[in-house]
Amino acid sequence: MYSTKIAGIGKYVPDKEVTNHDLEKVMDTSDEWIQERTGIKSRRYGEKHKETTTTMGARASEIAIERAGVSKEDIDFIIFATLSPDYYFPGCGVLLQRELGITGTEIGALDIRNQCSGFVYGLTVADQFIKSGMYKNILLVGAEMHSMGLDFSTEGRGVTVIFGDGAGAVVLQRGPEGHEGILASHLHSDGTHAEELAMINPGSHGGYHLGKENFGYPEDKEYGGIFLTDKMVEEGMIFPNMTGQLVFKKAVQKFPEVILEALQTAGLKTKDIKILIPHQANLRIAQFVQKILKLEDRQVYNNIDKFGNTTAASIPIALCEAWEDGRIDNGDLVCLAAFGSGFTWGSVLLKW
Ligand code: COA
Repeated sequence: MYSTKIAGIGKYVPDKEVTNHDLEKVMDTSDEWIQERTGIKSRRYGEKHKETTTTMGARASEIAIERAGVSKEDIDFIIFATLSPDYYFPGCGVLLQRELGITGTEIGALDIRNQCSGFVYGLTVADQFIKSGMYKNILLVGAEMHSMGLDFSTEGRGVTVIFGDGAGAVVLQRGPEGHEGILASHLHSDGTHAEELAMINPGSHGGYHLGKENFGYPEDKEYGGIFLTDKMVEEGMIFPNMTGQLVFKKAVQKFPEVILEALQTAGLKTKDIKILIPHQANLRIAQFVQKILKLEDRQVYNNIDKFGNTTAASIPIALCEAWEDGRIDNGDLVCLAAFGSGFTWGSVLLKW
């Protein structure tokens, strides 16, 4: 069996910086509240009508491809993870292919819908394709343009202040047998609380999972008309919702579990981790996980203060930044871990 290594990594964050003080001007919130509860000071927003989830993903990809020392035409598969796609369908994978100008290669493109753990899921899928010998150079992207779909009224403050835009990409390459690369990956999910961190409209649910809640469906209509109703738009039912405390409680339980699971599989200990890149959900969650696992400050990388939670993009952006800062050398043990909507969670352990 081949091995899978990260041959190149890139990130892209938009220029527009939005501080907590900027948000104070549009909703009833405060810099103090946001920093104390989340550790976030500012985030970036893409330029409306000019940037999209796909274009940000493409900018990060170009850097990753160049650093991998391959050409765009060498990419033989695309995996794109996002919860804020340009279109409901088709997914961003084919749009990225077009944006990169490689439609002629007619390679496959897969879209991943695992929200905060999308990058870890994507990495695990890519690893299997590479190890089995099916592909040699897979481009994996995590990108989000949250700012286009958040509720900027005070009603939405519990969710909106947390999220930011950006993209990260890696080129995963086939390595020789025995070369270490990705050592272990574990994926999990539990759909019990699917609606507790979700954007449920538009969708085909027709109220099914949600009891008798009225979504404004036109009862007299025999066919159609249920995907998106006027009521959903007028009453702000088209924005993400989150039961923050439940998410927090589950996250601090599942992060350590799945990190220890990875270490156990690889026969390693927490002291062996050079750097843990947790999904940047909330600084308090990351600090809690660090404490439970008794990791030193130098073993954990956080950048949520600058970029907020960029969901599928958060791990590759942080990994790229850590690498650019010289925090990761060849042979270092890197642990990536994520938890989020679904709930889904997972970890990947790799030798850089
Ligand atoms: N600014 C000011 N006040 C706010 C606010 C904001 N942006 N958002 C919520 N509040 C208010 C609430 O309305 C509530 O007011 P009330 O007591 O008058 O009703 C109060 O702050 C406390 O709200 P609560 O939701 O209980 O706060 P919390 O301590 O749980 O913190 C989160 C909220 C979202 C920061 C926290 O639950 C959390 O971090 N959860 C995990 C979320 C996460 O990581 N999501 C990403 C998953 S991948």
